[in-house]
Amino acid sequence: MSEPLIYEISVPGRMGANLPDVDVPQAALPAAFVRDDVNLPEVSELQVIRHFTNLSHLNYAIDIGFYPLGSCTMKYNPRINEDVARLPGFGQLHPLTNEEGTQGALAVMHQLQEWLAEISGFDAVSLQPAAGAQGEFAGILIIRKYHRERGDTNRTKILVPNSAHGTNPATVTMAGLSVVELPSDEDGNVDMNALRAACDETVAGMMITVPSTLGLFDRNIREIIQAVHDCGGLMYMDGANMNSLLGFVKPGELGFDVMHYNLHKTFSTPHGGGGPGSGPVAVNEKLKPYLPGPVVEMVEAASDDEDAPLYGLRMPENSIGRLKVFHGNFGMHSRAYTYIRTYGGEGLRNVARHAVLNANYVRAKLQDDYTIPYNRLCGHEFVIEGRFEDAPDVHALDISKRLMDFGIHPPTNYFPLIVPEALLIEPTETEDKQTLDTFIDAMKQIAREAHENPALLKEAPHVTPVAPRSLRSRYCTNDHRP
Ligand SMILES: Cc1ncc(COP(=O)(O)O)c(C=O)c1O
Repeated sequence: MSEPLIYEISVPGRMGANLPDVDVPQAALPAAFVRDDVNLPEVSELQVIRHFTNLSHLNYAIDIGFYPLGSCTMKYNPRINEDVARLPGFGQLHPLTNEEGTQGALAVMHQLQEWLAEISGFDAVSLQPAAGAQGEFAGILIIRKYHRERGDTNRTKILVPNSAHGTNPATVTMAGLSVVELPSDEDGNVDMNALRAACDETVAGMMITVPSTLGLFDRNIREIIQAVHDCGGLMYMDGANMNSLLGFVKPGELGFDVMHYNLHKTFSTPHGGGGPGSGPVAVNEKLKPYLPGPVVEMVEAASDDEDAPLYGLRMPENSIGRLKVFHGNFGMHSRAYTYIRTYGGEGLRNVARHAVLNANYVRAKLQDDYTIPYNRLCGHEFVIEGRFEDAPDVHALDISKRLMDFGIHPPTNYFPLIVPEALLIEPTETEDKQTLDTFIDAMKQIAREAHENPALLKEAPHVTPVAPRSLRSRYCTNDHRP
């Protein structure tokens, strides 16, 4: 039964609140503050509760269904992470508590720094940044400071492939440097000729997303790193997609100088709309002094098995500064710590194996129904074209809208920009084969419908509360429910 709209059940004079008698002298409000044209519904408390509870049921979430939103890694967040983050000693710890009173939390942060360094092959990590994009910002500021401190002030350009995540060029611009866009070759790799032509003494570095937003691991990554280093630039890896590399590729060992993680993508801490996330930044030895701080260090090792080490907070010597109040988002650190600890080394390798296997399984199953522009072994995600030669009116958006009729969240639309009508699909490692098959069947049915009955896609979604032909759920038709 669909609920009536709250404005329709409004009854003049009905009250949801029970206000106490006034116990102070009454005074008239200034006339400018008193309005009678706001037209608020007059409803009871129960009606308000039902209204908001019904609204909350309209939300879509990873805990409700499949969410193949490419580049966002909407994967299941294990509940044990939540249990640990809510332990009173962690969840209720006041950020102003002194170091002596926060030894447990500092130990967690220190261990996380060490694990993230180990997993990425870098020498040091700062947990300060509060999101992937802020981790990028930290990394580019580090590169900028490194060159400036050496008096190399001509280095103002950052090379960014056109298959990069959108935050990469935005970060470069925010850091006051300029973006030089590099084209991709027909295989989806960076165009090596364009790269070599761009490498000169004005290059501060290169920022490359690995795997790229095409879901591809650049086959020439070693040559790219070499070319940029040869001209005196530093290499930044956007490591937000580390879920496809865990345990198989260590960017620090490949030759990268700096990288950020997205804890919410790789280590399953919840997404927060760019808000309460975490984007730790990892660097090699020569960039260590520039890390944002404070970082956690072990002040005194344990003297024996009974003893515990002593931890403290320290600002790196030449730090780019502080990026976040207190110590970053500790709630994310304790969740990521739990995730890494639960999986262990081999478990994390399995995360990467399954992320890559799942994406390639779906890609292979859809290749006869959709155009896949760079159809080779992909990482954790892949991109298809949401268009058909014989159905010119059908766009990626229509396919996405129709998917909603199947109870599936649409993939990322129109990104990456270098693929026309792009649909970027990331199944993630946490989905089982049955779920993937349900998605594949839905996508195949939609491709058939696009050829045979495109109107079905154009007019979709048919079963959601907000539909193109109606703004109200109860007017939506169920006729086209799959
Ligand atoms: C490859 C890549 N880089 C950077 C970001 C930006 O991260 P955030 O949204 O945490 O700022 C994302 C976000 O999903 C990403 O996928």
